[in-house]
Amino acid sequence: MYSKKIFLICGARPNFMKVAPILHQLHKKNFADPTLIHTGQHYDKEMSDQFFEELALPAPRYHLGVGSGSHAVQTAKIMMAFEEICLADRPDLVLVVGDVNSTLAATLVAKKMCIPCGHVEAGLRSGDESMPEEINRKVTDSISDLFFVTEPEGESNLLREGVPVERICYAGNVMIDTLVRHLPFARSQEACRKYNLPKQGYALLTLHRPSNVDQPEVLRGLLKAIQHISESLPVLFSMHPRTAQKISQMGLNTMFTQITSTPEPGRILTVGPLPYTEMLSLQVHAKMLLTDSGGLQEESSYLRIPCLTLRENTERPVTVSEGTNEVVGIEPQKIINASKKILEGNWKSGNSIRGWDGQASLRIVEKIQSFLGVHD
Ligand code: UD1
Repeated sequence: MYSKKIFLICGARPNFMKVAPILHQLHKKNFADPTLIHTGQHYDKEMSDQFFEELALPAPRYHLGVGSGSHAVQTAKIMMAFEEICLADRPDLVLVVGDVNSTLAATLVAKKMCIPCGHVEAGLRSGDESMPEEINRKVTDSISDLFFVTEPEGESNLLREGVPVERICYAGNVMIDTLVRHLPFARSQEACRKYNLPKQGYALLTLHRPSNVDQPEVLRGLLKAIQHISESLPVLFSMHPRTAQKISQMGLNTMFTQITSTPEPGRILTVGPLPYTEMLSLQVHAKMLLTDSGGLQEESSYLRIPCLTLRENTERPVTVSEGTNEVVGIEPQKIINASKKILEGNWKSGNSIRGWDGQASLRIVEKIQSFLGVHD
């Protein structure tokens, strides 16, 4: 008989890779009945369902079905629906991951009902409050009870903000747990062949941050730089739905080409959101990554693939100090110059990062067990 009830919250694409190893680990231990709750923040098959299949996640016990909306609408809808579940089926702990609106909404509801909360990927700070994720991180951490950190700065940020040291667990990176598990298959998949791209002979691109895709002049500048890079190295762009929407609204479709048998220099190849293992396979064999995603900065550092972060800051500084990531900003010439350095073989090779070893979920579950006072 399970003695404790734990709610595990997910809602947006990057959450699924984080909850999967924790859920699998909780199932191995018998002290808790983990309940997976999907807020429905992401709902397209390519943004949600296909990850459940690939990561062997069971269907969520509750699906809140909130969908898209403004930040206030999305957050409020999650809060209203999640509160009802907590009232009917009160858990002993709510575990949230990452920095998306679902993370914030679930934490607010639980804490107001005096239900303890654990935050996985706590303590990350970009210092940039114009990022919605930064607000989500800070508010979530200001009221959580248990803090699972992925990198040294996460820990020092929390200590500086007054979090008691005994509430912080340097767990490492659960996203890397998932990567480690799927890497052999992803390597053997050689997804680049599907797009007629040679191993080590292409760049992989993602862009979805509002600061990069919502303003036409910024997006146009970024795409011009990338178009320039694609004159010497094919670029494959896996496009997030919000980016596809903006590009179409701005009439920038002519810069792209759908996949053909031969990539044309100067035309960026586009595909939609990709399955997890296909994306991982494309990363493994890429010459470089160009991205504004947090997860890809981490994955490329683990894989030791050069990564250019197209933002002015990162909340994941260990990927720069220890990994293969550089924050190059959004100025086109800087992006082009950095990509040249990579093509010339003039890039750092990176080090291994503490706790990015495939065992983070085990450390998280052990800490939860002791927090809830359950003995083997
Ligand atoms: C969200 C997260 C971001 C994370 C990203 C990963 C917040 C504040 N942001 O951003 O931190 O890096 O997910 O993808 O939580 N859309 C679809 N289909 C979907 C989901 C979204 O078409 O399944 C489109 C809709 O037009 C929607 C837009 O994308 O309005 C933005 O979706 P939303 O969930 O608000 O934020 P993301 O940009 O995906």
